[in-house]
Formats: sequence, structure tokens, C-alpha cells
Amino acid sequence: MEYYIIEGGRRLNGEVSITGAKNAVLGLIPASILCGCASKIENVPDIRDVQKYLDILEKLGVEVYREQDNLYLNTENIESSDCSPYEEEIGKMRASYYLLGALLGRFGKAVVPLPGGCSIGDRPIDQHIKGFEALGATVKIRHGMVYVEAEKLTGARIYMDVVSVGATINIILAAVLAEGVTYIENAAKEPHVVDVANYLNLMGANIKGAGTDTIRIYGVDSLHGCEYSVIPDQITTGTYMMMAAATQGNILIKNVIPRHMDAVSAKLREMGVQVIEEDDGIRVIGKRPLKPVKVKTLPYPGFPTDLQQPMAVLMAVANGSSSITESIFENRFKYIDELRKMGAEATVTGRTCTFNGVEELSGTRIRATDLRAGAAMVIAGLIADGETKITDIHYIDRGYEHLEDNLRNLGGIIRRENSGNEEA
Ligand code: EPZ
Repeated sequence: MEYYIIEGGRRLNGEVSITGAKNAVLGLIPASILCGCASKIENVPDIRDVQKYLDILEKLGVEVYREQDNLYLNTENIESSDCSPYEEEIGKMRASYYLLGALLGRFGKAVVPLPGGCSIGDRPIDQHIKGFEALGATVKIRHGMVYVEAEKLTGARIYMDVVSVGATINIILAAVLAEGVTYIENAAKEPHVVDVANYLNLMGANIKGAGTDTIRIYGVDSLHGCEYSVIPDQITTGTYMMMAAATQGNILIKNVIPRHMDAVSAKLREMGVQVIEEDDGIRVIGKRPLKPVKVKTLPYPGFPTDLQQPMAVLMAVANGSSSITESIFENRFKYIDELRKMGAEATVTGRTCTFNGVEELSGTRIRATDLRAGAAMVIAGLIADGETKITDIHYIDRGYEHLEDNLRNLGGIIRRENSGNEEA
């Protein structure tokens, strides 16, 4: 079992370059199924979830070739849209639900294992199903498999009961080759939704309004290949911004889109952190004491739920009382117990966690309870007094590329070790 050992108390200074957005590329890869030919995606991050997705597509018959951050896919010879034989691999990855929309859109049918829930909530797919049925598909769930089929997909007006990134993207995937116009109302506006729409439009789709509340998809007969570059990862960018703020460092975060970070930049400035937008990046200069703040996670352009956990570490050592309300997922505070082991004073009441800021956290043995909680544990280790051991870091490998190399380049003291057995 691999784990991190971090020596706290070092200020992080220097530069870090941000690579492609995980939650965009996990939509772009299945979207490639729709063109039935060769396409190229640039700026693809080297993270475990991407590799897992490519392994699944290869099993379906997709030709996959990767050269550094360039990804070449040829989806001409997909032999089947039945993914049930790969339940083991697919079940572990939430974004596998996009196989439903992409295979339904291309072949008119699909069988995909129900994506698992995880430690942040039960993660239902009722809004995905609502969209597929509105387009004319029948959907059945049997023995953990989702069966979706349609004689013909016809455009429809769909009002989302919940703002859902996954459902918005999945309905777009199913609608691009449907007959007629599809309206998705109350759609998610995240940058990665826009990225998938831009990729599909470059392939010949006709999608209007991505990034607004209402997305219109005018069905086309077919798509062609294209070359596309993934947008920078908004969540990775925010994570490094918070590392600079927490360690009182000075980091230039390059290859970012500053507009995507507006909610995060505003909140850090409220805490007294310097956030300077430069041509090709954002410079963050942290200083203590951090002022207390209130945060509520919201769909984009609000404060991202995926940065709730990293932000909590700043609150744990800010002056006075801060609070964070998690309005997106019902169970995203499991990691608070780990922060308490380090001396954080935090109280969770329903969907709100309130912090009474402490002078200092102290290093100890903690674990990553999910991907973004893992990032928060790294930040806590970077600022704690003494040494911190973080286990279950496989979660972190799912979404952060070359994390320890980047932190060492910024002056952090972190190393990855392997206990050689299940228990680290
Ligand atoms: C995506 O998950 C991201 N994952 C998540 O990032 C991110 O936290 C989330 O969007 C919100 O931004 C990927 O893109 C692979 P949702 P998704 O559908 O699509 C409810 C990370 O760390 N809902 O926007 O699953 C749902 O329960 C991960 O990178 C329904 O009720 O999120 C939640 O409360 C974690 N019915 C809310 O909507 C549905 O059919 C938002 O979920 C779908 C969702």
C-alpha cells in the first residue's frame, strides 16, 4: 500500500504548469465514440482515471495510441455496445456513465454497469435516465446493469430537476445525432461542459448555448474526426492556489484560464491572500493570519464543490470562526475526522461545517477518504508541525498528475513510500 510522508512548515515558492482538466477529458474520450473515425485530443493529463477509461475503450475495440499528452483515438471498429463483461473495471469509475450517452447516440443501444456511488454521496443517475427517455429511449436497470435502447432518437425539451454536470453532458452525447432539436434547460454551466460541446462542434455537431442555463442541440447526420486541446484543470488550479495560501508561499500557476477561478480568487482575497492575474497565469501570495470566511458550494460559476475540502484546511487555521456549506453532495465531510486528528476544531451540522481556527495543525497519520479529500490532506501535511503520513493515496493518483514532483519543485518535502502490504 503506497503512502505519502510529508514534512510540514515549508513555504512553497516557484512555478507550476496546469495540465488538461480531468472532468473535461473524461467526457471528451467517450464523446469520440460518436464520430466512428480517428480524432486527436491534446493536453491530456497523465492520471489514473484517464488510463482506466482508455483501457475500457480498448476492450470495446477502439484503437488507442498515446504519445506524451497527445491522445489518438480511432473509434471506427467498436464491436459491441455491451459493456457488461467489464463490470469490474467500469463499476469503479463514476464517469463511465458517459458510455451510455455515447453508445446510445452512435448505436441506438447500450448496456453499461451502474456507476458506483462513493464516499461523497449516493450519486444517482435519474436525471441521465430522464434525458434518455425524453429522447425516445427505453431504460431498464437489472442486476446492476443499465440497459438503454431506442428505435430512433428524437429531439426533446428536457428540464433538469437538479443541475447535473454528468447528466447535462450525457444528454448532449445522446442528442447530437438525434433527429430534430433538443433543449436542455437548467443545464450545468461548468467549463468542462463547454469543453465537450466545443469538441463535438469541431466534429460537426451543432450545439448552441453551452455554458448557459439552456443548451440547444440541433441533430446532425454524422460527425467527422478533429484535433482538440483540453482546457486547463480548474480544480487542480484551485488546489495549487490554496497550497500557496496555506503555506504563505508565492506560486505562479501557469496555463490557466483566470475566469474559471473567479469564485475561488474572490474567496482567497477575502481571506487576505494576494491573487494576481497575469497574462499566462495566476500568482498567489499567501500570508498569515488568514481572515475567517463563509463559503457555500454551488454549481458553476459558484464556489466549486471539488475545492470544498482543500478550502476547509485554510479555514481550520484561519483567525476566528469560518464555515463551509456543501450544497451539492450530501456526504462530503468524512475527511473532517482526519483534520481533527491533526488538531482542527470543527463541528459538522447537517451540510455545514464550522471551524474555530487554531494556531497550528500537528502532523500525524491520516488517510485520504476520496480524491479531493486526499488533496486537502496533502495541504494539511504541508502546513502541519512535524511529519504527516497519508495513506490511501491511490485516490489522489486518480486526479492529480505528478503531484509530489510538482511539490518538491516548489520546495515541499514529500515522498511516496510503499509498505509492501495491504495495511500501510
Ligand atoms: C461531476 O460529478 C464531477 N465528476 C465531480 O467531480 C463534481 O464534484 C460534480 O460533477 C459536481 O461539479 C466528473 O465530472 C467525472 P453532478 P457528477 O451530476 O456528474 C445530483 C471530482 O472530484 N444528481 O453534477 O456525478 C448528485 O447527487 C469529482 O473530480 C442527481 O440527483 O455530479 C449531486 O447531488 C467528484 N441525479 C448533484 O446532482 C442525477 O441523475 C450534482 O451532481 C445526477 C446528479
